[in-house]
Amino acid sequence: MNLQTLESVLAKDTFTDEDLLAFLSLTDTECCARLWREAYDRTTRVHGNALWFRGLIEISNYCIYDCRYCGIRKGNHQAQRYTLTPDEIVEAARYAVRAGYGSVALQAGERTDEKFIAFVEDVLRRIHRMSIEEGIPEGCGVTLSFGEQTEETYERWAQAAGNRKALRYLLRIETSNLELFNYLHSGKGGAQKTWPARLEALATLRKLGYQVGTGVMIGIPGQSLEDLVRDIRTFESLDADMLGMGPYLVSHGGDMVADGMMQKDALLTLTRNMLSATRLALPTVNMAAATALETLVTGGRTLGVLSGCNVIMPNVTPQRTRASYQLYDNKQGTESEPDSNVMLEQELEAVTGRVIGRHRFGSSLHFRNRSGLLAH
Ligand code: 5AD
Repeated sequence: MNLQTLESVLAKDTFTDEDLLAFLSLTDTECCARLWREAYDRTTRVHGNALWFRGLIEISNYCIYDCRYCGIRKGNHQAQRYTLTPDEIVEAARYAVRAGYGSVALQAGERTDEKFIAFVEDVLRRIHRMSIEEGIPEGCGVTLSFGEQTEETYERWAQAAGNRKALRYLLRIETSNLELFNYLHSGKGGAQKTWPARLEALATLRKLGYQVGTGVMIGIPGQSLEDLVRDIRTFESLDADMLGMGPYLVSHGGDMVADGMMQKDALLTLTRNMLSATRLALPTVNMAAATALETLVTGGRTLGVLSGCNVIMPNVTPQRTRASYQLYDNKQGTESEPDSNVMLEQELEAVTGRVIGRHRFGSSLHFRNRSGLLAH
């Protein structure tokens, strides 16, 4: 597609599968820059100039599954396993609250045992209490990312988190190519995750009042551009409130080394094209620029914002365990202290022209439209 044709397609409000495929296929520097700019401008028009921060706390890397792409899969015996103490988690959350981020995001390897469920419940109660003490009357926003759980567990956590206005869950579909999904999620004993179970978990979260986030990895070996178009359509049919997407990066602790990964420049372009195409198709969602993008290229999250993202999840996990949460090789930020986030904040504001939205929950317009909540 040349620049002139691109210009005429970008003038539209809704896009066909062919349009989306054309966006994803762009390689010409000028055309790509034009697409990314359009996504950035539409983000501004729909969401204003605020960039929302969520303090990301990686609370544990124990996992009972063997997702092939992931460096903290159960079968990776090289991984140093850890679980933060409740105090460490609450202090990390306090750091985020004091920085004015308004929300924290808790993530871990997947566990479904009662001990873990109760541990998370206890920590959520403490974070809620702490954030009220720190001056947020309703408690800070909380985003959970603990994989597929039962309805009962999701409900227990919702109650413990305390603030239903800013209760969120991230559960990526990873890919909507079912054959690929099954390959990624089968270990020694066969299938560990199924597509219907993933959809059901997302529906349950939605029913319980969570703001629901999903997403995919971009550039997985065996994934086509048509698959990415289908991913976007799946986000639409799930009526997602939030999206998080990043490049697939090979992990030596995973089980896909032989499958390789895309070449760096092409992967960066494809990732930005996918973020922008998704932004054009789903203008009201909150979309996060992933750490994986920062790992692919320094300043990657900034490039994500310049391609249509409006959420950043800076890592506020204590230094002592950061290097162990190695989902993929060379994960960015494993050596930095939480205070390096101040530099990230300044860099982001300077380069993207956005302003960090502080002391707000920063819920997506999509959620506010469907829930009738007017305030951020
Ligand atoms: N490359 C990129 N992203 C990865 N994730 C896990 N492993 C990788 C990898 N090798 C992402 C998955 C998961 C999220 C927590 O991290 O999409 O949902």
